[in-house]
Amino acid sequence: MANGLDGVIAADTVLSHVDGVAGRLIIRGKALAEISGRWSFEDVVILLFDGFFTGLPAGEDLVSAIGGARCEVFERINSSLERLAQLPIYDGVRAGLAMIPDGEGLNDALCLLAAPAVLTAALLRHRAGSAPIAPDAAAAHAADMLRMTGHTDTDGLIARALDSYLVTVSDHGLNASTFAARVVASTHAGLTSSVLAGMSALKGPLHGGAPGPVVEMLDEIAREGSARPWLEREVRAGGRLMGFGHRIYKTRDPRADALKAAVERLRALPAIVERLAFAEQVENEALAVLRREKPGRRLDTNVEFFTALLLEAAGFPPEAFTCLFAAGRVVGWIAHAREQREGGRLIRPQSRYIGPIENIAA
Ligand code: ACO
Repeated sequence: MANGLDGVIAADTVLSHVDGVAGRLIIRGKALAEISGRWSFEDVVILLFDGFFTGLPAGEDLVSAIGGARCEVFERINSSLERLAQLPIYDGVRAGLAMIPDGEGLNDALCLLAAPAVLTAALLRHRAGSAPIAPDAAAAHAADMLRMTGHTDTDGLIARALDSYLVTVSDHGLNASTFAARVVASTHAGLTSSVLAGMSALKGPLHGGAPGPVVEMLDEIAREGSARPWLEREVRAGGRLMGFGHRIYKTRDPRADALKAAVERLRALPAIVERLAFAEQVENEALAVLRREKPGRRLDTNVEFFTALLLEAAGFPPEAFTCLFAAGRVVGWIAHAREQREGGRLIRPQSRYIGPIENIAA
């Protein structure tokens, strides 16, 4: 049996390929380095949705179709915001997304694509005691997400960083949340059900819940004043350094480099310079500690370390980081759900029973 399904191939896909040995991510024939920081979120929606939906618009038409979906979602959830805001923010976004009809069509997909952005922005505003800002149907997705949150963005610098982030995390092979989405799609439930399964799997700290704790780690180290003793204590006590290690990558996670480049482009923001230098020092110390304390494990920096830095610099609070991850990964979940639905069988593995059996009547 493969513990954690390690090494098991459970689907054929045209969507993405994670090469853990070479440290390479290919998204539908494009190397991540080719598209991150160059392509927009909308470009990647076309890349991943192409062939899975009839009538998929392109170019400016897609920008306004996603914008229209943001407006539709806003209308749908607006009167429920008060109640959604009583939940922790990620749970509020998930509960709001559950209000989208469980269909299979393009409009259902676009609403699901729009929902995490609309809900995250509205719930963040609610927590700050401010009224929600309605979407602008004509704006690009990342820029509107910032606008709906009420962020000021000089020269579109932060919107470009957020766009790079959404593109970088859009798809990543058969990770835990994508697998969950495909399992649900294999039962022929609708796209909302698949996306909710993906969102639930993403929440945990071993998957998409890691970047918030990265900020906590950096803050604790900053308070203590010295990285190495803190990191050593953590690892020796059996703790995991958040933002390091990966099941598939046995080398550097290419998404970490893509996001590092996006964060570097934010250096024009004076507030970030000191934090970046500090984070770089912690990263180097962490890699040295992991090499010493976990010899032979080949633990390196993963996407979540730089996610935390980028989203913090963009002005988002740590408790919203996983919501933003969902806002990017939702493209991949939907595409995988469609692919599974079109070509796959019901996913139904077996378990090996290891409980008592002797005294059971036949
Ligand atoms: N810090 C310290 N030790 C670690 C870390 C880490 N970040 N990651 C793995 N290890 C150690 C484990 O303690 C274990 O050591 P042991 O055999 O001496 O007990 C060994 O490496 C193997 O650990 P597994 O859990 O079997 O490895 P797995 O492949 O399942 O782990 C995972 C992958 C869950 C990502 C892990 O590296 C981890 O917990 N990292 C921290 C959380 C994190 O950053 N998650 C985000 C991942 S990226 C993403 O999902 C988007």
